[in-house]
Amino acid sequence: MSYTSHTAVLGAGVIGASWAALFLASGRSVAVFDPAHEAEKSVLTYIENAWPIMTELSLCDRGDPSKITFHRSAEEAVDGAGFVQENVPERLPVKHALYQQIESALMPQAITASSASGLTLGQMQGGWRDPARFVLGHPFNPPHLIPLVEVMGNERTAPGVVDVADAFYEDVGKTTIRVRKEVPGHIANRLQAAVWREAIHLVQYGVASVGDVDKAISAGPGLRWAAMGPTTLFGLGAGPGGLAAFCDHFADTFNGWWDDLGTPQLDAKTAEMLVDGLDEAIGSASLADLSAQRDAMIVALQKALRVRPDC
Ligand SMILES: NC(=O)c1ccc[n+]([C@@H]2O[C@H](COP(=O)([O-])OP(=O)(O)OC[C@H]3O[C@@H](n4cnc5c(N)ncnc54)[C@H](O)[C@@H]3O)[C@@H](O)[C@H]2O)c1
Repeated sequence: MSYTSHTAVLGAGVIGASWAALFLASGRSVAVFDPAHEAEKSVLTYIENAWPIMTELSLCDRGDPSKITFHRSAEEAVDGAGFVQENVPERLPVKHALYQQIESALMPQAITASSASGLTLGQMQGGWRDPARFVLGHPFNPPHLIPLVEVMGNERTAPGVVDVADAFYEDVGKTTIRVRKEVPGHIANRLQAAVWREAIHLVQYGVASVGDVDKAISAGPGLRWAAMGPTTLFGLGAGPGGLAAFCDHFADTFNGWWDDLGTPQLDAKTAEMLVDGLDEAIGSASLADLSAQRDAMIVALQKALRVRPDC
């Protein structure tokens, strides 16, 4: 195996614990640093729970859950690691302090990737003397279950580093995409935000209930989107003329809809409306039951999606 066969996970909360499970599943060893008192226990429990799901998804063929170590400092954890995944809280001073701490302890060829959802690569690069081997590697929660990772480097990133990060993520079973320009929220979260904005608007405007708007996605386009993205799907939506014919036929329709989309704010009143609407939609189902149902359905979908030629 290459130098990325030994990894480090810095910050082992919601995201870090999941990355640790996935890296172990790929046959890699993982060195963890998290200052929280209960971190070791909670990470081990997380891995124990995640392992059967990853096995079902055939992600564990090379894996060994015992190849994990816990360390007393970030410097100690990154020692000898070829790939470092940083998952500390989403606060710039915390991230910068950590980068300053580890920079001189890293192997020269080591790549460090940040899971940051909201901070941009440029903001985080400010914590490095030399950010040449530092990239964005933003997962979708939970990383051991959802394939997407958004990878980004920029003009301060050394040539080839983003390719190595891409190859690393692909090897642990992820589907990567490149973020080519710095924008708040990267790509997938902006898409979610756009759809949710209109979902909220439709409820606020009295067009449908929270439950029906959710069903409009999960029983409609959401099912298609798990198979293919919207532009590919619309390219299949106008017969042999493909996407050009679709755009020709539907330009006025879409432009009219876009002009009419809402721009709600997520304020206290809106939140209350959504909470009440969701309570009505889910009835007596507990959040734990719904979470279990969601995970089981995601596993089933992933298995079904294996028929895709690129999987
Ligand atoms: N939660 C999500 O849905 C999600 C999704 C994608 C990306 N992310 C990103 O992942 C990162 C972590 O988010 P999270 O949800 O796992 O947060 P979290 O609060 O669950 O975990 C953060 C962990 O970092 C630890 N920590 C704090 N300071 C540290 C330090 N100096 N060194 C090492 N560990 C330290 C904490 O003890 C905690 O366990 C954030 O940048 C976030 O934006 C989160």
